Amino acid sequence: MEGVTIGAPLAFQIENRDHLKWRGKQVEPFTTPRPGHADLSGAIKYGYRDLRPALERASARETSARVAVGAVCKHFLAQFGVRIGGYVVSIAEVQAELGEMPFAERFERAEASEVRCPVVQSSTAMAERIRRAMEERDTLGGVVEVIALGLPPGLGSYVQWDRRLEGRLGAAALSVPAVKGVEIGPAFANTRLAGTQVHDAIRLEGEELVRPTDRAGGLEGGVTNGAPLVVRAAMKPIATTLTPQQTVDLASGVETPTRYERSDFCPVPRAVVIVETMMAFILADALLEKLGGDSLGEMLPRFAALRRLRLADLPMDGEPHIFWPD
Ligand SMILES: Cc1cc2nc3c(=O)[nH]c(=O)nc-3n(C[C@H](O)[C@H](O)[C@H](O)COP(=O)(O)O)c2cc1C
Repeated sequence: MEGVTIGAPLAFQIENRDHLKWRGKQVEPFTTPRPGHADLSGAIKYGYRDLRPALERASARETSARVAVGAVCKHFLAQFGVRIGGYVVSIAEVQAELGEMPFAERFERAEASEVRCPVVQSSTAMAERIRRAMEERDTLGGVVEVIALGLPPGLGSYVQWDRRLEGRLGAAALSVPAVKGVEIGPAFANTRLAGTQVHDAIRLEGEELVRPTDRAGGLEGGVTNGAPLVVRAAMKPIATTLTPQQTVDLASGVETPTRYERSDFCPVPRAVVIVETMMAFILADALLEKLGGDSLGEMLPRFAALRRLRLADLPMDGEPHIFWPD
């Protein structure tokens, strides 16, 4: 009312134009599960006579509703100066070299790229690689990177396993269809280095604690540390390939090649906004936990009063004391 939510559900309707095509028509049953899709899982789990309900329900079209809701979460976070953006870092073997490019510039450049990659030459190479996969009647996966900028330190917790932000963000990213791996910052690359090369030094600049590097990806002990929060998600090459794969027709019990369903070749660029959305859900929740409150009027002053990375905010006097008195 008057441009402000009043606690009633916000409703979105996204029309699926495909629906009309199906109305009142008799269709051939779909009984040949595609390896790597949810077809066989659906048949086992729900006992369908036709795989269609499984493949329609498991379709990533469902994520358009998530993205709509994610826009609300992003808007909420923006009131506190938090911005979430993302881009593609690799498709198949084509890897973008991002170097020291600032995050805001990466977001902007990704917006201008048809494959959502901030590096122009890599974008061209990725688009070319996707065209080749289409000619080869195949599909491709890749890696997306999503960043949250402007987060205050202190969101999340280590006091219970289910409050660690790594776990919450990881689960949220893995809920995106075809995402099979997640890392916080360069987690897998860090495993190839020694501890002294991995951890982000704590330095003092005036009264301010600063972290010159961000190999932790913005999280230490399940808690934001004030550095950019970096989540990377690995998406597999999708299951529906123009080149048939081996399967079994569940109706006839005969081994057969898969049947093609209209499909993408490489939805990696479109997964970026979905992973952004999932991150926005979790971070909006974590911020609400931290600030409580029922209105921005309550939350904004609390946000301004949060403990920051200033020595003066940390109540340590260096005095000896007894933890467990007799
Ligand atoms: C944006 C997006 C688009 C997708 N498009 C397709 C598609 O066209 N064809 C396909 O087979 N899978 C597609 N997928 C992947 C399937 O939804 C996913 O593989 C399927 O639900 C099985 O789940 P799983 O791969 O997580 O095990 C897409 C995923 C995303 C995120």
